[in-house]
Amino acid sequence: MNTFLKAMWIKAKVNNGDAATDFYKTLKIEKNVEKATLHITAHGVFEAFINSKRVSSDVLMPGWTSYTKRLRYISYDVTDLLKKGRNEIKVGVGKGWFFHNVDCWGTDVLKHDEAALICALEVTYEDKTTEEFLSNDSWKTAKSNIIYNNIYNGETIDFRVKEFRKTPAVEVSYMRNHLIPFEGVPIREQERFKGEQLIVTPKGEKVIDFGQEVTGYVEFSAKAPKGRKIVIKHFEVLDKKGNVYTENLRGARATYTVVSDGKPFTVKPSYTFYGFRYIQVIGLKDVKPEDFTAIVVHSEMKRTGYFSCANELLNKFAQNVVWGQKGNFLDIPTDCPQRDERLGWTGDAAMFSRTAAINFDVRDFFDKWLNDLEADQLADGSVPHVVPYCNVYWSGPDGYNAPAWSDVAVIAPWEMYVAYGDKKILSDHYVPIKKWVDFMIAECEKNGGGEIKFPWTEGGFGDWLSLEELNREDALGVTDNGLVSTAFLINGLRTLIKVDGILGYKTDKKYQAILESAIEFFRSEYMENGRMKQETQTAAVLAIVFSITDNMEETCKQLAENVRKHGRITTGFIGSTYLLYALTMANEDKLATDLLLRTEYPSWLYPVTKGATTVWERWNGIFPDGRFANAGMNSFNHYAYGSVLSWMFRHLAGICPDEEKAGYKKIVFEPAPDERIPWVKASVDTVRGTAASYYKKTDDGWSFEFTVPEKSEAKAILFGKEYSLKKGINRISVKL
Ligand code: BGC
Repeated sequence: MNTFLKAMWIKAKVNNGDAATDFYKTLKIEKNVEKATLHITAHGVFEAFINSKRVSSDVLMPGWTSYTKRLRYISYDVTDLLKKGRNEIKVGVGKGWFFHNVDCWGTDVLKHDEAALICALEVTYEDKTTEEFLSNDSWKTAKSNIIYNNIYNGETIDFRVKEFRKTPAVEVSYMRNHLIPFEGVPIREQERFKGEQLIVTPKGEKVIDFGQEVTGYVEFSAKAPKGRKIVIKHFEVLDKKGNVYTENLRGARATYTVVSDGKPFTVKPSYTFYGFRYIQVIGLKDVKPEDFTAIVVHSEMKRTGYFSCANELLNKFAQNVVWGQKGNFLDIPTDCPQRDERLGWTGDAAMFSRTAAINFDVRDFFDKWLNDLEADQLADGSVPHVVPYCNVYWSGPDGYNAPAWSDVAVIAPWEMYVAYGDKKILSDHYVPIKKWVDFMIAECEKNGGGEIKFPWTEGGFGDWLSLEELNREDALGVTDNGLVSTAFLINGLRTLIKVDGILGYKTDKKYQAILESAIEFFRSEYMENGRMKQETQTAAVLAIVFSITDNMEETCKQLAENVRKHGRITTGFIGSTYLLYALTMANEDKLATDLLLRTEYPSWLYPVTKGATTVWERWNGIFPDGRFANAGMNSFNHYAYGSVLSWMFRHLAGICPDEEKAGYKKIVFEPAPDERIPWVKASVDTVRGTAASYYKKTDDGWSFEFTVPEKSEAKAILFGKEYSLKKGINRISVKL
């Protein structure tokens, strides 16, 4: 039997309420230790110490999985922390995501409401004998001096409390058959930076600006009289007048409170995180920015994509997208890191997955999250709106199934396969892909009383946050939901058939037949003479990028006309992800670049001109007159619109992986040089080595430098002419 499973779940005798619980064990080591491993997990999030030393630099462990089905335990090598004689293990357990009830966003699927711990210390001595120390009622517990903790609201530490009374732990028979060895990537502290400046607002609030919106927390040093409360409020933006603005955090109090014992201290939270660029400091006389350090916290990911060019605003935008990813890849891909939400919204992840896999190596990150998706997928194939599943109140009593959102079951494995080229990604996540496609088909059958009747749904979020009217603040998209759902069904069916081919599975003929009739339906229902009946950009975009139209030229023409007529984007989460790709397919790279370079509201660069350091949730987060959009939904760190960065890599810089030869086995360098951007430089550290593109304007044309990874094949297409490329650096000059 796995040692770990011999251990018992333990908890405190009395419910510690909002306080964290500390667990203690004293043990005696009498021989020389050769190896010691601590296997550990918790209901909540834990910090473990042996002899006062932290067991690991991981934070907020065991992270967030679909807790009722999968709870990871982590195995730490603690050989160096043990000593001969008396040793003390201390594990603090905070509420974490396990009990993150805030108003509507409660994970009320979870049964337990008290912090609990299970762990096993496995020791092998130099004489090869072994000993196990298991969590059980020989452990002690005490209320922590972290007297309040909540993922959304923050934490309060009371330094006046030296130690609460310890009482014996109680063994509990909580579920154990869902405990799994660690998978995915750990969450760790990453960069740190000091406060940049102190701002005293018109209202007299003392604010520190870190110059960058981050996700994490603040460490600070101070000295204050005994009993004094120092309160740090975290927030994203100052309002029009320059005062603290926290309304858009909704129910999240995002506060850190320290009660001083009169002695100097340096402190940071243990069981929470915040999304912030600014903090307001209350209760300290002398506020010095250099005493405050923002600590960036996210999942461990290796950076792989780099983009720069002659346009500084575009460079800043590209950086903002990277920051958006850092801020929202904290064990699960979240919509946002600051307000009382921070959930694994599937649509956001679906739209961003391609970009995510360019910026960072996210293979293991997605692998783990897709396992949660599979765990939360229902037997009929239903996929929740958020993974891990929470009973999100307004998405219906059940919170499952929305076009483009639930399609993440298909889109994310496919994007990971294209990026990393490993068939295992597809085979590991094949079941959810197929179940989701089957679900959509079953819905069509339900609609038709046994016969297939499209669309599978007219519901869902549609082209979320689209902006057909400049003052539009409604969230639900304008583009017909049936059109959207059919387009994604077509994409799902095509992907399933492709995946079957790649894995050598036999595809039931019915899928091809349904695919053909779905395409036929789409064309007759939503199109006429090659044009979309509904004049939205997103309608045409989907017909183009999913190759549904029977008259590519005409649909492309319609899209280009629409874009020219508006002179701007009108798209939401879905359309914006694919719009520039559709324009490239329409041979309208110049028009695509017009949209990309636009700085007026609404555009990708507009937030940059407003000082954004991450990507905003909505085009009109801040209107040109300085007014904020409705605080009910206005995050300044939502990565969805950052998905356009993948187009910048693939088409502006031109590093485009050939999907037929995934994992950058074959690369097509087909950049779209534009006089307004006289040089572009980008690189991706692919699984086969670095692929890079650098080009610049010359007196009589353009010069290009393409780097082909050792293990890849590649060609370039420049101004319609094809060039074969060798491995390593290739230089090509084109005179125009
Ligand atoms: C989230 C989105 C999400 C949406 C679903 C919002 O509350 O923040 O990013 O995709 O709901 O429609």
